[in-house]
Amino acid sequence: MKRFAFATVSTLAVMAGSAVVAEPQAEVLHWWTSGGEAKSVAVLQEEFATNGGTWTDMPVAGGAGDAAMTALRARVLAGNPPTAVQLKGPAIQEWYEEGVLADISAVAEAEGWADVLPASIAGHMQCEGTWCAAPVNVHRVDWIWANADILAANGIEMPSTWEEFNAAAEKLQAAGVIPLAHGGQAWQDATVFEAVVLGVGGPEFYQKALVDLDPEALTSDTMVQVFDQMRTMRGYVDENFSGRDWNLATAMVMNGEAAFQIMGDWAKGEFLAAGKKPGEDFLCASTPGDGYLYNVDSFAMFNVEGDDNRAGQDLLAKLIVGPSFQKVFNLNKGSIPARTDVALDEFDICATLSAEDMGSTSDAGSLLPSYAHGMALRGAQAGAITDVVTAHFNSDMSSADAVQQLADAVANSY
Ligand code: GAL
Repeated sequence: MKRFAFATVSTLAVMAGSAVVAEPQAEVLHWWTSGGEAKSVAVLQEEFATNGGTWTDMPVAGGAGDAAMTALRARVLAGNPPTAVQLKGPAIQEWYEEGVLADISAVAEAEGWADVLPASIAGHMQCEGTWCAAPVNVHRVDWIWANADILAANGIEMPSTWEEFNAAAEKLQAAGVIPLAHGGQAWQDATVFEAVVLGVGGPEFYQKALVDLDPEALTSDTMVQVFDQMRTMRGYVDENFSGRDWNLATAMVMNGEAAFQIMGDWAKGEFLAAGKKPGEDFLCASTPGDGYLYNVDSFAMFNVEGDDNRAGQDLLAKLIVGPSFQKVFNLNKGSIPARTDVALDEFDICATLSAEDMGSTSDAGSLLPSYAHGMALRGAQAGAITDVVTAHFNSDMSSADAVQQLADAVANSY
């Protein structure tokens, strides 16, 4: 109905002979609703408005976007997709294959995206040679965050091995501190799990297990050790963890209720939004082990009718990859710019570490896509893995049973 109404109005205007100037409009579906996230998306809303755009907000709360993706499917099935959608990784290709994405190559070419984006990021944004999404940032997933005072009071350094992490957690627990702030939602379990896979198995193992889905890696002794470590970590979580949102877990670290959180650097956006200082109030370090798990947020434009909507899509795409937005947004969001030509002097120590590690891991071949945040696998395969990870974490399933279920679930997911 809505699309029909748009078409009618613009047709009438043309028929009446008036000069029709498109007024950029966009209905934007995203899941950025926490304190740090909302502050970040407001930057885009403001830039859009300053450039003459009218933004209709469609926020769907729920970390990692599971609820947002359900809402998207319903809208597309109803034949009424939003103009722009926060979408990333292989899901972009999956929607492209459905024939519902708009081609934004004209903007990408006019703005020279190919010259300012790393090839690995550009690859995710292209569908059969055309540009089908605009990248916002690079989030690192394999981070550990800590309350600086709690660590100092207990004589604990940031752990650089999983043994050190476990020893620190035992010590904190004995001192009556919750070692690990965690929210029992499947995607948060998956976020911790992939950091443990990378740390315990190393980058090559991660690639084989969670990118190539090699059955041998999935059922290996190394994967058994990964589940053993997950079981150990389950013991470091407080009993009220079920269903807790990730930003509430971050708040526990902020408020001194818990010592550590393992979470992507959108958690840093929460610390910053609350006025906390990195290196003083909170500490950041990559989770134990080598490698870097990347998660690139991006927006895809859906096929919609109307010049105003199309003008809105072009304007949004242009602004998203523009240098000013990439800087200000990422200063708030906790991530680093996707563009390589944005100076990082105003960014903090965690962002600097992220950028340095991204460069060195890219050279070393250990810059890897996050499976938990939809960068490595298609939805069916990622979902099959997460189901097993979360079932194991929330039961007394043995590690041996977990690896078998993991291999079976992946095999049955195609
Ligand atoms: C990630 C997303 C981040 C952040 C996080 C929590 O998947 O890439 O931007 O929003 O979920 O919702």
